Amino acid sequence: MLGASPLVTGSSMLAGSLADLLRAEPLKEEHFLGWLENLQQQSDSVISSPDQALDVMDFEAAARKAIPPAHWGYLSTGVDDDSTVRANRDGYQHIQIRSRRLVDVTNIDTSRTIFGVKWDSPIVLSPVGSQKAFHPDGELGVARAAKTKGHLMMLSTVATVSIEDAIAARGGPVWQQLYPTNVWEITRAIIKRAETAGSPAIVLTVDLHDGSNRETLFRSQRADKRQCSMCHGGGYSPFARGNPGTSASKRGFADYAAHRPMFDGVDVSQVTQLLPMALNWDLVKRLRDTVTVKFLIKGIVTREDAELAVEHGVDGLMVSNHGGRAEETLRPTIESLPEVVEAVAGKVPVIVDGGVRRGTDIFKALAMGATAVGFGRPHSWGLGAFGQAGVEAVLEIYRRELRTIMRQAGTTSLDKITREHIVPRPS
Ligand SMILES: Cc1cc2nc3c(=O)[nH]c(=O)nc-3n(C[C@H](O)[C@H](O)[C@H](O)COP(=O)(O)O)c2cc1C
Repeated sequence: MLGASPLVTGSSMLAGSLADLLRAEPLKEEHFLGWLENLQQQSDSVISSPDQALDVMDFEAAARKAIPPAHWGYLSTGVDDDSTVRANRDGYQHIQIRSRRLVDVTNIDTSRTIFGVKWDSPIVLSPVGSQKAFHPDGELGVARAAKTKGHLMMLSTVATVSIEDAIAARGGPVWQQLYPTNVWEITRAIIKRAETAGSPAIVLTVDLHDGSNRETLFRSQRADKRQCSMCHGGGYSPFARGNPGTSASKRGFADYAAHRPMFDGVDVSQVTQLLPMALNWDLVKRLRDTVTVKFLIKGIVTREDAELAVEHGVDGLMVSNHGGRAEETLRPTIESLPEVVEAVAGKVPVIVDGGVRRGTDIFKALAMGATAVGFGRPHSWGLGAFGQAGVEAVLEIYRRELRTIMRQAGTTSLDKITREHIVPRPS
């Protein structure tokens, strides 16, 4: 009985290893260096291939290592203190999940139908501009990953590839995000080009005015000692400091547009703003009359604007604060979602993005009434670190995590995920 005691077993094990140690030969130098290298590898937790990632955050460090400082600054920046970036993420930490038991969860169905098209996942790729700054695959790598994994992709107006090439790489329709600029002929040209290419939806972004105070970006630009003018030429940047709409920014836009194929063949000499300061509901009406495919607005965060959007005949909304890179509101999108969902009352689909980093985040957003859930930085981390393969891995992790929590919460399909499955976390 004494021999079976864990205490005795434990101490004899200890005694054994001590004896082994005493018997051991003196440590040879190469063994010591090998051990040191091992230790270093363990503490340097940056992954070196997509399959090493345990979660999507693992791609952040890998991307940071791979992407030049100024480009990293562009990807990671928020505005002012970057507090809204953090708030988006933190918002999900204030919601708890109520799991139901004794449900047969052998089969999990994550499919979702949006505008009559059935997708096998509610996880969508939000539009991200200038993705060749992260990896030569750029938006084509994202499109190919979207194809492999079967996800909905939105292409930015300021993408580094055209809508035609993105659709070809996706092997299916891609939604076109729209920055209208201050020149109506350009707005119209982008819409008609996307429609002709086969884009089934135009997504007007309304939350980003030129001149956002992107301090993290500005600091990283200072730290980057490369010759930026080699790629950026004279350098209009919609994110430059100072007054937007000046003649200096007007001159520089042509150079910026030269690397953005959605501006090919249009006269950009009068463009001073990507998102016109004068943008209002009259322009929404004009756009509604112009767009012949589905028309969505991205950047709605209040009940009032959601109601107005529905009144103006908009087909869908994206609750978004541009990933906290437009204005420092400190309001997480997951906290804006309920009032928007309530306002539209099921009349149009509502997609949410901002700070979604876990399958449980997706679950919570769906429980709050989101039709689908998007993300911008994580797929760009995957892209920056490993190109198309990285984006695929990011998508796979989100899919796996969503299925896991659906099983754990006893929800076998997306329509079974309801408000009953979440509660606020007591503060
Ligand atoms: C580098 C970068 C570029 C972006 N470019 C665009 C864009 O061109 N058009 C747009 O509507 N949103 C753009 N967004 C916002 C994303 O579509 C999305 O709303 C946001 O990234 C979601 O937050 P998350 O990064 O925390 O997932 C961009 C975001 C990032 C990080």
